[in-house]
Amino acid sequence: MGSALPVLADGNRANGEALAKRLCARCHVIGDYNRMGGIDSTPSFPLMAKRPEIFAHRIPTFQKRRPHPQFQWPVSLQDIADLESYILSLPVKKRP
Ligand code: HEC
Repeated sequence: MGSALPVLADGNRANGEALAKRLCARCHVIGDYNRMGGIDSTPSFPLMAKRPEIFAHRIPTFQKRRPHPQFQWPVSLQDIADLESYILSLPVKKRP
C-alpha cells in the first residue's frame, strides 16, 4: 500500500475510485476527475487525504453522517473499505 498511515483500510482502490465516481462525485470533488465539480458545502476527497486526523474515522461512518442517511446506497463493508483506501491514497498537494 505504500503508506505509513495506520488507518489506511486494506481495500481495493480501483473499486473505491469507481464507486466514488458513480456515487460521490455528484457532490464531492474527488480529484482531477471533477476538479471543478461537486457542490460547495462538501469537503473534497483530496482534502480528506490531506487531513486524515480529521477525516479518516469519518469515512467508514459516512453513511450515518448528514446528509448521507437519506441515500440508501447498496454499499457493502468491503465497498466502504475500498472507498477509504482510495480516498486516503489521493495525492496531497504541497503548498509552495
Ligand atoms: C447529495 C450530495 C452528496 C453525495 C452524493 C455524497 N456526499 Fe458526502 N457529504 C455531502 C455534504 C453536504 C457533506 C458535508 C456535511 C456537513 O459538513 O455537515 C458531506 C460530507 C462527507 C464526509 C465528511 C463527513 C463529516 O462528518 O465530516 C464524508 C467522509 C463523505 N461526505 C463521504 C462521502 C462518500 C464516500 C460519498 C459517496 C459514496 C458521498 N460522501 C456522497 C454531500 C454528499
